[in-house]
Amino acid sequence: MANTLKWEGQQLATWYFTVAIVLFGAQLLMGLIAAVQFLYPSFLFEIFDFSVARMIHINALILWMVFAMVGAAYWLLPDETGIEVVGIKWAKLGFIVLTAAVTVVVVVYIVVQIGPANDMTIWFINEGREYIEAPRWADFGIAIVLVGFLLHVFLTAIKGERTGIVTVLMADMIALVGLYLCGMGFTDSISMDQFWWWWVIHLWVEATWEVLVGVFAAYGLIRIIGAQRQIVEMWLWIEVAMLFGSGILGMGHHYFWIGTPEYWWEIGALFSALEPLPLVAMFIHVTYDWGKQQGIAKAEGRDTAIANTPALAWFFANAFGNFLGAGVWGFFHTMPQVNIYTHGTQFTSAHGHLAFFGAYATILIGVFYIAVQGTNNIKRLKATFDFKMGIILLNLGVFGMTVALTISGYSQVLVERAQMGATWEAFFISQDTLWFVQGLGWRLAMGVVTLVGFIYLVKDLLSTGKNKIHER
Ligand code: HEM
Ligand code: HEM
Ligand SMILES: [Fe+2]
Repeated sequence: MANTLKWEGQQLATWYFTVAIVLFGAQLLMGLIAAVQFLYPSFLFEIFDFSVARMIHINALILWMVFAMVGAAYWLLPDETGIEVVGIKWAKLGFIVLTAAVTVVVVVYIVVQIGPANDMTIWFINEGREYIEAPRWADFGIAIVLVGFLLHVFLTAIKGERTGIVTVLMADMIALVGLYLCGMGFTDSISMDQFWWWWVIHLWVEATWEVLVGVFAAYGLIRIIGAQRQIVEMWLWIEVAMLFGSGILGMGHHYFWIGTPEYWWEIGALFSALEPLPLVAMFIHVTYDWGKQQGIAKAEGRDTAIANTPALAWFFANAFGNFLGAGVWGFFHTMPQVNIYTHGTQFTSAHGHLAFFGAYATILIGVFYIAVQGTNNIKRLKATFDFKMGIILLNLGVFGMTVALTISGYSQVLVERAQMGATWEAFFISQDTLWFVQGLGWRLAMGVVTLVGFIYLVKDLLSTGKNKIHER
C-alpha cells in the first residue's frame, strides 16, 4: 500500500488496525466452529472442544477491539494535537511487545488448550475469566503496554493542542486502563472474583468504551462531513455525563444473583434502566449533524458534504446499532423481575452479539475507512460494490443471528424457567425444544452470512488504494 502518511503515529495506527482485522477474522471462524458444535456436539470433539472455540471467539473479540481502539487513538492524536505522538519509538516497541504476547497466548490456547486446576495453568495457559482470559504473565505484559500507551496519550496531549476531544480521551484512558488492573487480582471466592471481574467487563463496555465511541464519533464527524467542532464537542460532554451517570451504578444489573447484597436489585434496576438514554442522545447527535451538514452543502450548491461515504455509513450503523443492541436488547432484560427468567439464556447471547457489534465493531470499521482514506491520500472516498456488500451482509448477518438467538432464548425462558422452574432436568428439556434448535440453525446460517460480509469488507479495504472510483 502506498504510504503517504505524514505522522508516524498514524502509521503505527495502521499496524494496530491490521492486527485487529486479522483477530476479527479469527473471531468469526471460532464462532462458526462453536455454532456448528451447538448443533452437532461431536464436531471436533476432544480435538477442538466447544469450550476452547468459545473462549478464543470471545477473547479475540475483546482483543481486536482493544487493538482497534488503541490504533484509533494513535490515529486521531496527531490530527487533534497537531504534533507527532511523543515517544513514538517506544510506542512502536509497545505494539511489537503486545502483538508478540498476543500471538503466544493464542498459540497456547490453540495447541495446549487446557491445564490442571493449579497455579501453573493460571500463569501460563489461561486465567479463566470470561472475555479476559490471558494467562498471568501476559496480563502483566498487557498492563505494562497499556500504561505505556496512557503515557503517550498524556505526553502528546500536554505538549500539543488540547482540544475537547483530546481532553475527554485523556480522562477516559485513565479509567479504561485503570479498570483493566481491577481484573488482575485473584481470590478463591467465585463471588468476589465475579464482583471485580464485572468492573472490567461492565465498566468497559457500558462506560469507558462508550465514551471512546463518543470521542471517535466526534472526531469522525468533523473529518467526514466537516461538522462544527463546537457543536460536536458540546454533544460529547453531554454524552459523557449521561454515560457515566447511568453506566457506573448500572453495573448493579450484574449483581442480582451472584451473592452481593440485595440493595443491588434497586440500584441496578434504576440506573441500568437509564442507560439507553445516552444511546438515544448519541443517535440523535449523529443524525442531526449529518442532516445539518448535508443541508448546508446543498444550499451552497455542493453536491454533498460527505468526504467518506463508507465511514459515514458505518458511523450511522453505529448510532443505530448501539441504540438497538445495547439500549433496546439490553433494556429488555435489565430489570431483576425479567432477568430472573432470562439470566444466562441465549437471550443474553443475543444481546451480547448485537451490542458488541452495533456499538463497537461498526464504529471501529468506520475508523478503518478513515484510515484507508488517509493512507491513500483520497479526497473523497466513495461507496464501492464491495463496501455495499460488506456493510449489508455484516449487518444482516449479525442482526439475523440476534433474532435467531432471541427466539432460542424465548424457548429457554418459557420452558426451562417459567414452566419447569430452572431445574437441571428443565435445562436439558429446553435444549431439545423445536424453537431452540431451529434458532441455533438460523444462527449458524446467519453466521455464514456474517463471514461473507467480512470477506467483502477486507477485500474493499485492501483494494481502496488501487480503486479508480475514488476522487484523489
Ligand atoms: C455496548 C454496550 C453493551 C455491550 C457490549 C454489552 C454486552 C453484554 C454481554 C456480552 C453480556 C453477557 C455477559 C456474560 O457473558 O455474562 C451482557 C449482559 C447483560 N447486559 Fe449488556 N451490553 C451492553 C450494554 C447494555 C445496556 C445498555 C444494558 C441495559 C440497559 C445491558 C444489560 C445487560 C444485562 C442485564 C446483562 C446480564 C444478562 C444476564 O443476566 O444473563 N447491557 N451485556
Ligand atoms: C460468524 C459469526 C458468529 C458466530 C457463528 C458466532 C457464534 C457464537 C457462539 C456459538 C457463541 C457461544 C454462545 C454460548 O456459549 O451460548 C458466541 C458467543 C459470543 N459471541 Fe459470537 N458469533 C459470531 C460473531 C460474533 C460477532 C460479530 C460478535 C461481536 C462483535 C460476537 C460476540 C459474541 C459474544 C459477546 C459472545 C458471548 C455471549 C454470551 O456469553 O452471552 N460474535 N458466538
Ligand atoms: Fe452491564
